[in-house]
Amino acid sequence: MNTKVKILGTGSSAPDQVITNFDLEKMVDTTDEWITTRTGIKERRIAKEGESTSTFALLAAQRALRVARVSPEELDLIIVATVTPDMLFPATACLLQRELKASQAASFDLEAGCTGFVYGLSLAEKYLRGGGGERALVVGAETLSKIVDWQDRSTCVLFGDGAGAAVLGLSEEEGIIATYLGSDGGGAHLLELPAGCSRMPASPDTINGRLHYIKMNGNEVFKFAVKIMEEASREVIKKSGIAMDEIDLFIPHQANIRIINSAAKRLGIPEERVFVNVHKYGNTSSASVPLALDEAYQDGRIKSGDLILLVGFGAGLTWGSALIRW
Ligand code: UT7
Repeated sequence: MNTKVKILGTGSSAPDQVITNFDLEKMVDTTDEWITTRTGIKERRIAKEGESTSTFALLAAQRALRVARVSPEELDLIIVATVTPDMLFPATACLLQRELKASQAASFDLEAGCTGFVYGLSLAEKYLRGGGGERALVVGAETLSKIVDWQDRSTCVLFGDGAGAAVLGLSEEEGIIATYLGSDGGGAHLLELPAGCSRMPASPDTINGRLHYIKMNGNEVFKFAVKIMEEASREVIKKSGIAMDEIDLFIPHQANIRIINSAAKRLGIPEERVFVNVHKYGNTSSASVPLALDEAYQDGRIKSGDLILLVGFGAGLTWGSALIRW
């Protein structure tokens, strides 16, 4: 019996509309120079009217299924990791299940901030290993442009839209070697969207107070990120008994080039083994890791047998890592 779980294929998708730092200079009091030096971001993709998270989730999922040579009817599970579902309910995963006609799949959304995809990967792997089925689809998809305050320069320059997906299957070969997840709700207030749910339902006051937008303490999240990226990476490496210098490609959450460089430096991973695309997409939250994974694969940066280390952190606070043999 197959008890190992492998990634069979990946896919990604992003809106066509590009917003550059120079476009943002015309919208808020910022400069290309500030955004580039503080974050590494040069441009981001932004959804047009009528496009939502499921638009990009569907395209990414279809591509991943094509690469994996798996038909939607073969899926036993669909997880969509997102903080920007199409609606609070039903789950965006169910909307995706409907569009794919994945008639055998159980479907649900998962909210673990920017760590959502890594959480989803870990859960799906355990679901398949535990006998839940043979094939799973894990998607990280966001339209953060819809929850960003376009009047707040400290956040609106950071985020972007897109989706990435992976099809997982039971296999004889080693694939997902180990995962490691964690959380600390003590830092919940550092990154939140305060209004629109049970604590603070939508009202004229919440709208006037601009409470339906992302609020973030950037400095505190930055400090947490640098520390936890190293810790989560070391934990998953320890679990697997593999040495850090065996890692062929490090794919961290793409939030800020300074966080990425500092984590890589602490881990002793050389620049040429670190995948970066934050300059093109900004921070796409749950979509960031799978978007980077798929782009790395499409760019030929991943070969069969390579060891890949994924690591994420985000609102919650949450963190997670996964060690994968391609
Ligand atoms: O996925 C997880 C989510 N979040 C993150 O990973 C974000 C983590 N944090 C960060 O990436 C960084 O903290 C930021 C990029 C958000 C901010 O960079 P920073 O180097 O920590 O800057 P700062 O917040 O300390 O702000 C420095 C200055 C401030 O001005 P004063 O008080 O020194 O006069 C800000 O008002 O930069 C100002 N500032 C800006 N200036 C121009 C803040 N945003 C902007 C802006 N353009 N867009």
